[in-house]
Amino acid sequence: MPGRNFLFVPGPTNVPDRILRAMHVAMEDHRSSTFPSLTRPLFSDLKKIFKTESGQCFIFTGSGTGGWEAALTNTLSPGDKVLSARYGQFSHLWTDMAQRLGLDVQVLDAEWGEAAPVERIAEALAADTAHQIRAVMIVHNETATGVRTDVGAVRKALDAEKHPALLFVDGVSSIAAIDFRMDEWKVDCAVTGTQKALMLPPGAGIVCVSARALAAGERAKLTRVFFNFKDQVGQNALGYFPYTPSVPMLYGLRESVAMLLEEGLDNVFARHHRLAEGVRAAVKAWGLELCARAPKSYSDTVSAVMVPPHVKGQDVIDIAYRRYNLSLGAGLAKVAGKLFRIGHMGDLNELMLLGALAGSEMAMREAGIAIVAGSGVAAAEEYWREAASRRQPAEVGAGSKA
Ligand SMILES: Cc1ncc(COP(=O)(O)O)c(C=O)c1O
Repeated sequence: MPGRNFLFVPGPTNVPDRILRAMHVAMEDHRSSTFPSLTRPLFSDLKKIFKTESGQCFIFTGSGTGGWEAALTNTLSPGDKVLSARYGQFSHLWTDMAQRLGLDVQVLDAEWGEAAPVERIAEALAADTAHQIRAVMIVHNETATGVRTDVGAVRKALDAEKHPALLFVDGVSSIAAIDFRMDEWKVDCAVTGTQKALMLPPGAGIVCVSARALAAGERAKLTRVFFNFKDQVGQNALGYFPYTPSVPMLYGLRESVAMLLEEGLDNVFARHHRLAEGVRAAVKAWGLELCARAPKSYSDTVSAVMVPPHVKGQDVIDIAYRRYNLSLGAGLAKVAGKLFRIGHMGDLNELMLLGALAGSEMAMREAGIAIVAGSGVAAAEEYWREAASRRQPAEVGAGSKA
């Protein structure tokens, strides 16, 4: 089909041309004396994306799932108690991994569409007077339902009880798009993947780790080999890796971090919020509901749109893809068929999203959903037009050739 595929799944996301060009490199010796001139500034700048000065970032060939495993196996021992909030497919999968690794997982379930139950987390921490809970696991942005959890509130709950549990946060679909504060929230392990807001191909899991989490490794007995932080520490300090890194990925990450810092993280977050608000205006105009229940937990990187009961979400997705070359995200597990997801993270602007909204409208109408043609597009246009008129001229229309 001529023209570009409209990639609006919530990861992988669009890779900007600037990053594609940066990754188009000849292979080189990753043990050369000049290699650290690429990697050492990269490690240091990466910390800015996590908003940390004291944390340390590790780049593992792999994906977000590998990052989860790194966080758990480097800090915990078999049978250790952890508290995990489960409210969507990714918090389910991380919980499942903790169970399969032999941890004693206290699961706090919430309805899919709700955020992590912070009050119940606080109660569980208060009840744990012997401080047996070693870690709390939170998915910052549940990509399956389009729900954001207030990680700062979880930190407050820990502090209120003076509870020493480590705080692990999955920021796979939030970090570099939604405000994330490693140091302020005293996060001990923050996990992300390259294929989301970092605007890179899939292929690396990045884990940012606090000094407490590194220290916990001294007594942690879970087996880790490939993901051992300790093997990374010494080599990374010199600008190297314990095994062959993905060289193009490192060049891409170098460019991605540069782009994010050039735009300014606060501007990146504001752009994601503005784009998400336009999508939400469209959903409202269609007369449809989001899976996310409370406006305060709406995700700025993905919207999960509930379809009426007589329609299969998969039909909307298939029609959008086959007829219009638009890729939308599917409903996963419990919400399979009940929704479709529009990813709005990474290298995006209003007009790109209008294309996705137009394609969604056409596909929904063809799948039998009674919405007014153009209604969502018009609502989003109006929202973005007004938002643009409120912004400073310098912020609008700066243009980009890449
Ligand atoms: C919130 C979240 N966590 C973890 C993962 C798993 O990451 P990966 O597929 O990179 O292993 C995903 C993937 O979509 C995700 O959205």
